[in-house]
Amino acid sequence: MSINRVKGTYDVLPNESFLWQALEDVIRKTLALYNYKEMRTPMMEYSEVFHRQTELSDMVTKETYDFLDRGDRKLTLRPEGTAGVIRSYVENKLYASQELEKIYYIGPNFRYERPQKGRYRQFYQFGVEAIGTVNPQLDSEMIILAYDFIRRLGLKGVRVRINTLGDDASRKAYQEALEAHFRPHVQTLCQDCQNRIDKNPLRILDCKIDQKHIAVKDAPVPLDHLNLESRAYFDEVLKHLDTVGILYEIAPKLVRGLDYYSHTVFEIEADIEGFGAQNVLGGGGRYQSLVKELGGPDLGGIGFACGMERLLLALEAEHIMLSKEDTIDAYILVLDQELKAFASKILYDLRHQGLLSDINYSHKNFKGQLKHALKLDAKYLVIIGQDEYTKGFVGIKDTKTETQENIKFSEITSYIKEKVGK
Ligand code: HAM
Repeated sequence: MSINRVKGTYDVLPNESFLWQALEDVIRKTLALYNYKEMRTPMMEYSEVFHRQTELSDMVTKETYDFLDRGDRKLTLRPEGTAGVIRSYVENKLYASQELEKIYYIGPNFRYERPQKGRYRQFYQFGVEAIGTVNPQLDSEMIILAYDFIRRLGLKGVRVRINTLGDDASRKAYQEALEAHFRPHVQTLCQDCQNRIDKNPLRILDCKIDQKHIAVKDAPVPLDHLNLESRAYFDEVLKHLDTVGILYEIAPKLVRGLDYYSHTVFEIEADIEGFGAQNVLGGGGRYQSLVKELGGPDLGGIGFACGMERLLLALEAEHIMLSKEDTIDAYILVLDQELKAFASKILYDLRHQGLLSDINYSHKNFKGQLKHALKLDAKYLVIIGQDEYTKGFVGIKDTKTETQENIKFSEITSYIKEKVGK
C-alpha cells in the first residue's frame, strides 16, 4: 500500500516547478527594485510568537499546528510570516540602526483550514515588511509595490481594496461602537461570537458562521470612528496613491482577519470569472504593537503577504505564461556502447559551455534513445557512431529541419552554441 500526501497539501511535480521559479523570479526582481532584502526565518517558532494575548483571530486560536518537541518545548508551525520576522528583528536588534528595515520572505506556512481550491494546510506566501517608522508615504509605497507587482505579472482582473482602522484611540472608539451594536443581538449570534463581544467584537465581522447575520451586515464601519489625526493620515496615504495613479477602491468594511492591524489595511482581490471563493490573492496593513509585544521598542511597521498558489491559479485563469520551460539544446545519442566515455566528455564540454544537454541512461538501442530525445523536444541531436568517430566527426541533426551535418570533434560546442544563439 502506498502512502498518500497529508490532507490539504500538494506536490509540485518536476514539470510544474518552472512555474514556481518564474513567479519567484518576478517577486525577487520586483522587490530588489524597491530595495527590500530577503530574510529567512525558521518554519517553527516558540508558540508564544504567534499565541499572543492580543491575537484572537481564528487563524491563531483555531488553526495553528502546535506541538511539543521531544524536549517538551511548545512549538508552532508558522501560520504566517510577520510574527516570526518581527521576533527575528527584535532578537537580532535590527532596530539598533534606527533606520527603516525593508524585508521580504518566501516560504511555506501552515494553517489547519478546510481545504478547497486555493486553500491548503501548507501553502506558500511571499511577504514584505517595512519596520521602524510610522509614515503615510511608506503605507502608500507598500500598496504601490503590491499594485506594481501584480502589474508586472500581467494580471488584469485584480482589485486593490483599501481601508483604515485608525490609530489606537480610533480603533478603541470603533470597538466600543461595535460592542454596543452587537449587544442587543447577542442571543442570536454563534457561541464564539457571544464571547467575542467582550473580548474582541472586530472578529465577529469575519465569523464564518455569522457571515449572513443581519447585525454583521449592518455593522458600523471604522471610517465613521476615526479621530482627526487618523483621518489626516489616511488622506495622506490616498493622496500619494492618487498622484502616482494607482487604481484602488475604498472598502469601508475591510478589517482583515488578524488582530495586529491599525491605520492602513488593504487586500488584493482577484476578479476573474470562475476563479472560486478563495479570491483574496494578498493582504496586509500597518501594525503598531507587534514589535513591542515581542520584546522590542515601540516601533511600528507595515507589510503584506500574497498566497503564491492563488497567484499561480490567477495566472492560469488569465492564460499568462511567465516563462516557458527551457528545452534541451543538445541530446547525445550513442550508437556504439564503447563510445560512452567519449560521449561523457562531449556532454561535459557542452554543459561547460552553458548548453542544456543530456544523454539517455535507460536505453541501449538507438530507437529508444531517439524517441526520448524527441519527446523532450531536444533542439539538436549529437549522434556518435563508430564510422564517424574513427574519422574525427559526429553527426549533428537539427530536429526541426531534420537536416544533418558531420561536425569535427573540436567544433561540436561552437556549432551548437551558434545555432541556438547562446
Ligand atoms: P493573511 O491575509 O492571513 O495575511 O494571508 C495573506 C495571503 O496568504 C492571503 O491573502 C492568501 O492569498 C494566502 N493564504 C492565507 N491562507 C491560505 C491558505 N490556507 N491557503 C492558501 N493561501 C492562503 C497574513 O498572513 C499577514 N501576515 C500579511 C501581512 C504581512 N500583514 C502585515 N505584514
